[in-house]
Amino acid sequence: MTVTVIVGTQWGDEGKGKIVDFLAKDFDIVARFQGGNNAGHTVVVNDKKFKLHFIPSGVISGKIAVLGTGMVIEPDAFLKEVKMLEEEGIDTSNIMLSERAHVITEKHKEIDGKDSKIGTTKKGIGPAYADKISRKGIRIIDIIEKYPSIKKFARDTTFEINDAIKNKKNVLIEGAQGTMLDIDHGTYPFVTSSNTIAGGACTGLGIGPTKIDKVIGVAKAYTTRVGEGPFPTELNDEVGKYLLEKGHEFGTTTGRPRRCGWFDAVVAKYAVKINGISELALTKLDVLSGLKKLKIAIGYECNGKVLERMPVNLTNCKPIYEEIDGFEIKDKNKTLEFGYASLPVEARNYIERIEEITKTKVRIISIGPERSDTFIKP
Ligand code: GDP
Ligand code: IMO
Ligand code: MG
Repeated sequence: MTVTVIVGTQWGDEGKGKIVDFLAKDFDIVARFQGGNNAGHTVVVNDKKFKLHFIPSGVISGKIAVLGTGMVIEPDAFLKEVKMLEEEGIDTSNIMLSERAHVITEKHKEIDGKDSKIGTTKKGIGPAYADKISRKGIRIIDIIEKYPSIKKFARDTTFEINDAIKNKKNVLIEGAQGTMLDIDHGTYPFVTSSNTIAGGACTGLGIGPTKIDKVIGVAKAYTTRVGEGPFPTELNDEVGKYLLEKGHEFGTTTGRPRRCGWFDAVVAKYAVKINGISELALTKLDVLSGLKKLKIAIGYECNGKVLERMPVNLTNCKPIYEEIDGFEIKDKNKTLEFGYASLPVEARNYIERIEEITKTKVRIISIGPERSDTFIKP
């Protein structure tokens, strides 16, 4: 029996959907605890691409898929996603939507991002959470009589999850967004409106902290960010363009180009700390393949001061880099067949340097978007 939480360690789009899908076979339930359709989680299985915004990625593997209490839901958009899955032949009878989750209304979408420079996804997320916190929100329970098509998914998911844990089921919890977009711990105000870190899984699902066994952090082998806000390792040069193009870094939800930059180990260390991450899943290593030199940010210079840990305010912080030799993955299939030892030594050095700085083992390595483009590091 295990309760495992998956979180993004950067600014979102780390490949959480892919990693959740890869792990889902060993779990009975996959649950989301926060956010809404600002999330875009991509799963690719046998060349078929699924873009999920509300429904946890475990649905693809036929697992019980819980949309938890801490989420915000636009009913029509949720039903559209259900329909998309049904058209792809996916079983949707195992989807459970919390009756306590809050509803995103047309009004929320209309006002989203009108008076701010945050660059939101305009899905009504911030306004829906604002109404919830102001105690003016509408919950799923309040609308189910009017939306019978929603009613069949509505459950008291708090009891469903806690009963499953009591009955020794395996529960995988899928975070959305990333650590640096957390409303309390991210780059405020350039953040989303929920707690994206692992602690949010407890409040968002109604489970006690003592029930969580493990937290896995998903990290892209470089960094991306969509929307506005500080991003110390951002590259506005040829390398940034290379990462954007080779990594197909366009938002799953809005199609906006993602800002790209080097791996930021200060961000990674911070994410490990505040999520209680015990192991990392490193994605998109293949995208770095072919670059002669790589850089890892190991500290910042902020207003003349050298820092090795995350400051409260990232504005005016410049990265301090360590340079490391690049690598080339010549034969993806060979790497997948023979695993970690068959990676070029420079690639292993890069991964092991990340492990050293973050004091956290990389356990899962992803070198392509397909479920099968993944291997476990011994
Ligand atoms: P999420 O929001 O964290 O689930 O991530 P997204 O799905 O928004 O963005 C990750 C993108 O990278 C998706 O298009 C994935 O299909 C793709 N992807 C995931 N892992 C890998 C990988 O290891 N290599 C490559 N090339 N693409 C990947
Ligand atoms: P996944 O789950 C990347 C960003 C937006 C904006 C800020 C606030 O796919 O990793 P919001 O609409 O939430 O009020 O926007 O947060 N953002 C994301 N960036 N991935 C996401 O989700 C995101 N969800 C929100 O671009 O900067
Ligand atoms: Mg995404």
